Amino acid sequence: MDVSDWVDARNGFIRGEIFTSEEVYQAELKNVFARSWVFLAHDSMLKKAGDFIQNYIGEDPVVVVRQADGSVKAWLNQCRHRGMRICRADRGNTRYFMCSFHGWVYDREGSLVQVPHEEEAYAPETFDKADYGPRQVPRLHNYKGFWFGNWDETAPDFEDYIGDFKYILDSHIDRHEGGLEVVGQHRWIIPANWKYNAEQPSNDSYHAETSHASALTVLERSRKKRREEKGEPDNRVSMATRAAAARGKQFSGGFGHGAGWHEMPEGAMRYQAELPATMEWEDSVRDKVEERLDPYRNANRSHANLFPNFMMLANGTMRVTHPRGPNEMEIWAWTFAPAEAPDEVKEEIRVNVLRTFSAAGMFEQDDAENWLEEQRIFRGYMARQDPLVYTMRIGDARRGLGGVPGIIAPSVYADEGARGMYHHWAELMSGDSWDDIARRNAERLAQVPHAEAD
Ligand code: FES
Repeated sequence: MDVSDWVDARNGFIRGEIFTSEEVYQAELKNVFARSWVFLAHDSMLKKAGDFIQNYIGEDPVVVVRQADGSVKAWLNQCRHRGMRICRADRGNTRYFMCSFHGWVYDREGSLVQVPHEEEAYAPETFDKADYGPRQVPRLHNYKGFWFGNWDETAPDFEDYIGDFKYILDSHIDRHEGGLEVVGQHRWIIPANWKYNAEQPSNDSYHAETSHASALTVLERSRKKRREEKGEPDNRVSMATRAAAARGKQFSGGFGHGAGWHEMPEGAMRYQAELPATMEWEDSVRDKVEERLDPYRNANRSHANLFPNFMMLANGTMRVTHPRGPNEMEIWAWTFAPAEAPDEVKEEIRVNVLRTFSAAGMFEQDDAENWLEEQRIFRGYMARQDPLVYTMRIGDARRGLGGVPGIIAPSVYADEGARGMYHHWAELMSGDSWDDIARRNAERLAQVPHAEAD
């Protein structure tokens, strides 16, 4: 699909049509979601043989199952008989999955193993159960405990796909030797296009100072009050102060991945609210984390999106934004905490995510309000005519700026992440082969001057 009338990512202009059109949406399911690496499960969700969870790639439901030999398989959660959902439980442990429509039974590998009345109902010379297993997800990759799947056998290998984004991804999922574990899960629906939730962590720290002003004020007051009551000095740089500062950087990798972070002054708040047990424990393991990552990445936590729809927030939230038509997204969010942290720390992280970025979270509600208003407004005809402005800090990014790999804008307030995301989105939407897209991606990255050349 040619989307050049609506997206000129190089020059920073995008039209609202891409958020509302059913035609665009159907092309996205085929050209974006069926060709990209999508998060499916974490090892901690699939501890033993037969453990399974449901997830989605785009709108296609998949079941992810731990096999008897320890490997993992994922298959389309659709019965070959009439297309019913085979597995209707969100998660669990089983040897077999029985379709609740007419009773066809599949094993963990996704092979059809039993058909009610098979002998009377189907001619043995034309019916072989081996032909009727559900479609397998052909590409699976486990990256440090996180399972990603891809329907497209021609897509780049996962590690080539993430490229320089490895630097960002590791800062979220590889901080601690013991890895991460899930301590909470939430799902909710927002009547707005999925791309808003992909774009924001890639790009938009700019909104926080305005959109989250009330939430930041409330948290700041409660922090001051708590300090006063305890007679402790109030020596932290607040989140509100941090949000108002443009200090920081923005990352744009190839293939649409993006991230942004404020550069934190010493003593700044690391979380939206004060988490005393968490901060004390983090201080106690600081040397180990800095050895694993580096002091800069330990101190400066990003919001990030692994294109198309795996979003990571600095407070331990990771989520998949499932598209549900052009006008709706369904968010599946998990709270991750360091597996080796004390229970008190895990609980503090869980409660902080509930307070901030859950369905009822203070920040999440601010964000959802913006997105659903945009979605309503783009229903208008004139509202989709004028291009939106994605030109912030255009031309200022450099490769390797500050020693950070990727294309790096010199401020957290930039549109480099969004320009990179929509550029890759348009590339995929063209339907061109992955080989051509990967070649053009490498050429585009090479054109950006290296920081050392300045
Ligand atoms: Fe599954 Fe008929 S649709 S058994």
